Amino acid sequence: MKTSSFSFHFFLTLLSLLLTIVKPDPDPLQDYCVADRNNPRSIFINGAPCINPSLALPSHFATSALSKPGNTANQFGFNVTLTTIANLPGLNTQGLTIARVDLAANGVVPPHSHPRASEVTICLEGSILVGFIDTSSHMYTQQLRVGESFVFPRGLIHFLYNMDPMKPAMAVSGLSSQSPGAQIASLSMFASKPAVPDEVLKKAFQITGQDVAKIRRNLGG
Ligand SMILES: *[C@@H]1O[C@H](CO)[C@@H](O)[C@H](O)[C@H]1NC(C)=O
Repeated sequence: MKTSSFSFHFFLTLLSLLLTIVKPDPDPLQDYCVADRNNPRSIFINGAPCINPSLALPSHFATSALSKPGNTANQFGFNVTLTTIANLPGLNTQGLTIARVDLAANGVVPPHSHPRASEVTICLEGSILVGFIDTSSHMYTQQLRVGESFVFPRGLIHFLYNMDPMKPAMAVSGLSSQSPGAQIASLSMFASKPAVPDEVLKKAFQITGQDVAKIRRNLGG
Protein backbone atom coordinates (compact mmCIF):
# COMPACT_ATOMS: atom_id res chain seq x y z
CA MET A 1 0.00 0.00 0.00
CA LYS A 2 2.74 2.40 1.05
CA THR A 3 4.84 1.59 -1.99
CA SER A 4 2.01 2.14 -4.43
CA SER A 5 1.06 5.52 -2.93
CA PHE A 6 4.74 6.46 -3.07
CA SER A 7 5.01 5.53 -6.72
CA PHE A 8 1.75 7.34 -7.44
CA HIS A 9 3.18 10.50 -5.88
CA PHE A 10 6.40 9.97 -7.76
CA PHE A 11 4.37 9.65 -10.97
CA LEU A 12 2.43 12.88 -10.20
CA THR A 13 5.64 14.76 -9.43
CA LEU A 14 7.23 13.52 -12.63
CA LEU A 15 4.12 14.46 -14.62
CA SER A 16 4.00 17.99 -13.21
CA LEU A 17 7.74 18.38 -13.90
CA LEU A 18 7.24 17.29 -17.49
CA LEU A 19 4.26 19.61 -17.88
CA THR A 20 6.39 22.49 -16.61
CA ILE A 21 9.06 21.66 -19.16
CA VAL A 22 6.69 21.76 -22.15
CA LYS A 23 4.86 24.92 -20.97
CA PRO A 24 5.67 28.29 -22.55
CA ASP A 25 6.72 31.18 -20.29
CA PRO A 26 4.97 31.21 -16.88
CA ASP A 27 1.44 32.65 -16.95
CA PRO A 28 1.05 36.21 -15.64
CA LEU A 29 -0.80 36.46 -12.33
CA GLN A 30 -2.19 39.91 -13.18
CA ASP A 31 -3.50 41.75 -16.28
CA TYR A 32 0.01 42.96 -17.05
CA CYS A 33 3.40 43.36 -15.45
CA VAL A 34 5.01 46.36 -17.17
CA ALA A 35 8.74 45.79 -16.78
CA ASP A 36 10.42 48.17 -14.34
CA ARG A 37 13.36 49.35 -16.42
CA ASN A 38 14.75 51.50 -13.60
CA ASN A 39 14.87 48.78 -11.02
CA PRO A 40 18.51 47.78 -10.54
CA ARG A 41 18.93 44.05 -10.90
CA SER A 42 19.73 43.24 -7.31
CA ILE A 43 17.46 40.23 -7.17
CA PHE A 44 17.14 37.77 -10.03
CA ILE A 45 13.72 36.41 -10.84
CA ASN A 46 12.23 34.65 -13.86
CA GLY A 47 11.41 37.77 -15.93
CA ALA A 48 11.60 41.39 -14.77
CA PRO A 49 9.84 43.00 -11.75
CA CYS A 50 6.77 45.11 -12.64
CA ILE A 51 6.07 48.76 -12.01
CA ASN A 52 3.05 49.70 -9.89
CA PRO A 53 0.09 48.82 -12.20
CA SER A 54 -1.52 52.23 -11.56
CA LEU A 55 1.52 53.85 -13.21
CA ALA A 56 1.12 51.91 -16.49
CA LEU A 57 0.84 54.05 -19.63
CA PRO A 58 -0.33 53.23 -23.15
CA SER A 59 3.23 53.87 -24.30
CA HIS A 60 4.44 50.92 -22.21
CA PHE A 61 2.52 48.68 -24.63
CA ALA A 62 3.79 50.34 -27.83
CA THR A 63 7.15 50.50 -29.55
CA SER A 64 8.68 51.78 -32.76
CA ALA A 65 11.70 49.50 -32.28
CA LEU A 66 10.84 47.54 -35.43
CA SER A 67 10.01 50.53 -37.65
CA LYS A 68 13.47 50.85 -39.18
CA PRO A 69 15.42 48.21 -41.11
CA GLY A 70 18.47 46.79 -39.34
CA ASN A 71 21.87 47.17 -40.99
CA THR A 72 22.51 44.07 -43.10
CA ALA A 73 26.11 44.97 -44.04
CA ASN A 74 27.67 41.91 -42.40
CA GLN A 75 29.07 38.65 -43.79
CA PHE A 76 25.69 36.89 -43.73
CA GLY A 77 23.59 39.79 -45.00
CA PHE A 78 20.94 39.76 -42.31
CA ASN A 79 19.83 41.70 -39.27
CA VAL A 80 17.25 40.76 -36.65
CA THR A 81 15.67 43.49 -34.54
CA LEU A 82 13.79 42.26 -31.47
CA THR A 83 11.29 43.65 -29.03
CA THR A 84 12.61 43.30 -25.49
CA ILE A 85 11.38 44.33 -22.04
CA ALA A 86 13.61 47.40 -22.52
CA ASN A 87 11.90 48.72 -25.69
CA LEU A 88 8.46 47.18 -25.03
CA PRO A 89 8.11 46.77 -21.25
CA GLY A 90 4.41 45.80 -21.52
CA LEU A 91 5.47 42.44 -23.03
CA ASN A 92 6.98 41.36 -19.71
CA THR A 93 5.43 38.00 -18.61
CA GLN A 94 3.24 37.77 -21.74
CA GLY A 95 5.38 35.07 -23.34
CA LEU A 96 5.86 36.99 -26.58
CA THR A 97 8.56 38.58 -28.73
CA ILE A 98 8.29 40.22 -32.15
CA ALA A 99 11.26 40.06 -34.50
CA ARG A 100 11.92 42.05 -37.64
CA VAL A 101 14.17 40.15 -40.01
CA ASP A 102 15.92 42.15 -42.73
CA LEU A 103 17.74 40.27 -45.46
CA ALA A 104 20.09 41.84 -48.00
CA ALA A 105 20.07 40.50 -51.57
CA ASN A 106 21.12 36.83 -51.22
CA GLY A 107 21.36 37.34 -47.46
CA VAL A 108 20.80 34.46 -45.05
CA VAL A 109 19.84 34.05 -41.42
CA PRO A 110 22.17 31.10 -40.84
CA PRO A 111 20.75 27.86 -39.38
CA HIS A 112 19.87 28.54 -35.75
CA SER A 113 17.41 27.51 -33.07
CA HIS A 114 15.39 29.17 -30.32
CA PRO A 115 15.51 26.88 -27.28
CA ARG A 116 12.55 28.57 -25.59
CA ALA A 117 10.16 29.52 -28.39
CA SER A 118 8.16 28.45 -31.40
CA GLU A 119 8.20 31.00 -34.19
CA VAL A 120 5.72 32.03 -36.84
CA THR A 121 7.00 34.26 -39.59
CA ILE A 122 5.33 36.32 -42.30
CA CYS A 123 7.13 37.55 -45.41
CA LEU A 124 6.37 41.25 -45.89
CA GLU A 125 8.86 42.15 -48.62
CA GLY A 126 10.58 40.17 -51.37
CA SER A 127 10.55 36.38 -51.31
CA ILE A 128 12.24 34.18 -48.74
CA LEU A 129 13.24 30.52 -48.79
CA VAL A 130 12.58 29.21 -45.29
CA GLY A 131 13.11 25.79 -43.79
CA PHE A 132 13.59 23.79 -40.63
CA ILE A 133 15.07 20.38 -39.90
CA ASP A 134 13.32 18.06 -37.46
CA THR A 135 14.98 15.64 -35.04
CA SER A 136 14.85 12.90 -37.70
CA SER A 137 16.93 15.16 -40.00
CA HIS A 138 13.97 15.68 -42.31
CA MET A 139 13.95 19.15 -43.84
CA TYR A 140 10.74 21.08 -44.42
CA THR A 141 11.20 23.98 -46.76
CA GLN A 142 9.03 26.49 -48.57
CA GLN A 143 9.44 29.60 -50.65
CA LEU A 144 7.45 32.46 -49.13
CA ARG A 145 6.14 35.39 -51.12
CA VAL A 146 4.71 38.59 -49.67
CA GLY A 147 1.86 37.80 -47.28
CA GLU A 148 2.77 34.13 -46.80
CA SER A 149 3.63 32.62 -43.42
CA PHE A 150 5.57 29.66 -42.04
CA VAL A 151 6.00 28.00 -38.65
CA PHE A 152 9.33 27.02 -37.10
CA PRO A 153 8.56 24.51 -34.34
CA ARG A 154 10.15 25.16 -30.98
CA GLY A 155 13.83 24.37 -30.62
CA LEU A 156 14.31 23.08 -34.18
CA ILE A 157 17.13 24.39 -36.38
CA HIS A 158 15.83 26.69 -39.12
CA PHE A 159 16.99 29.26 -41.68
CA LEU A 160 15.74 32.09 -43.90
CA TYR A 161 17.37 32.84 -47.23
CA ASN A 162 16.70 35.67 -49.67
CA MET A 163 17.10 34.00 -53.05
CA ASP A 164 16.91 37.29 -54.94
CA PRO A 165 20.40 38.48 -55.98
CA MET A 166 19.18 42.09 -56.45
CA LYS A 167 16.44 42.93 -53.97
CA PRO A 168 16.29 42.92 -50.16
CA ALA A 169 13.61 40.97 -48.30
CA MET A 170 11.89 41.45 -44.95
CA ALA A 171 9.87 39.25 -42.61
CA VAL A 172 8.29 39.72 -39.22
CA SER A 173 8.16 36.89 -36.70
CA GLY A 174 6.25 36.27 -33.52
CA LEU A 175 7.98 34.12 -30.92
CA SER A 176 6.31 32.38 -27.97
CA SER A 177 8.67 33.64 -25.26
CA GLN A 178 9.88 37.00 -24.01
CA SER A 179 13.32 35.41 -23.94
CA PRO A 180 13.44 32.98 -26.89
CA GLY A 181 17.24 32.67 -26.99
CA ALA A 182 19.04 32.12 -30.29
CA GLN A 183 21.82 29.69 -31.02
CA ILE A 184 23.47 29.91 -34.45
CA ALA A 185 24.72 26.40 -35.23
CA SER A 186 27.89 27.36 -37.13
CA LEU A 187 28.96 30.00 -34.59
CA SER A 188 28.29 27.69 -31.63
CA MET A 189 30.50 25.04 -33.16
CA PHE A 190 33.31 27.12 -34.66
CA ALA A 191 33.36 30.45 -32.86
CA SER A 192 32.67 29.59 -29.22
CA LYS A 193 34.84 30.95 -26.38
CA PRO A 194 36.67 28.88 -25.31
CA ALA A 195 36.88 26.90 -28.55
CA VAL A 196 35.43 23.43 -29.03
CA PRO A 197 38.49 21.11 -29.26
CA ASP A 198 39.74 20.61 -32.86
CA GLU A 199 39.58 16.83 -32.43
CA VAL A 200 35.88 17.03 -31.65
CA LEU A 201 35.15 19.14 -34.73
CA LYS A 202 37.35 17.01 -37.00
CA LYS A 203 35.50 13.85 -35.98
CA ALA A 204 32.03 15.43 -35.86
CA PHE A 205 32.25 17.02 -39.29
CA GLN A 206 34.71 14.53 -40.82
CA ILE A 207 37.12 17.31 -41.80
CA THR A 208 40.82 18.06 -41.36
CA GLY A 209 42.52 20.38 -38.89
CA GLN A 210 43.07 22.83 -41.79
CA ASP A 211 39.34 22.81 -42.52
CA VAL A 212 38.65 23.57 -38.84
CA ALA A 213 41.14 26.44 -38.86
CA LYS A 214 39.68 27.85 -42.08
CA ILE A 215 36.07 27.76 -40.89
CA ARG A 216 37.13 29.30 -37.55
CA ARG A 217 38.87 32.13 -39.40
CA ASN A 218 35.85 32.70 -41.66
CA LEU A 219 33.50 32.91 -38.70
CA GLY A 220 35.73 35.03 -36.49
CA GLY A 221 36.35 32.19 -34.04
C1 LIG B 1 21.77 45.43 -36.92
O1 LIG B 1 21.32 46.72 -37.15
C2 LIG B 1 21.59 47.62 -36.08
C3 LIG B 1 20.92 48.95 -36.43
O2 LIG B 1 21.25 49.37 -37.73
C4 LIG B 1 23.09 47.75 -35.88
O3 LIG B 1 23.36 48.59 -34.79
C5 LIG B 1 23.66 46.35 -35.61
O4 LIG B 1 25.06 46.43 -35.51
C6 LIG B 1 23.28 45.40 -36.71
N1 LIG B 1 23.71 44.04 -36.36
C7 LIG B 1 24.48 43.31 -37.16
C8 LIG B 1 24.80 41.93 -36.67
O5 LIG B 1 24.90 43.69 -38.24
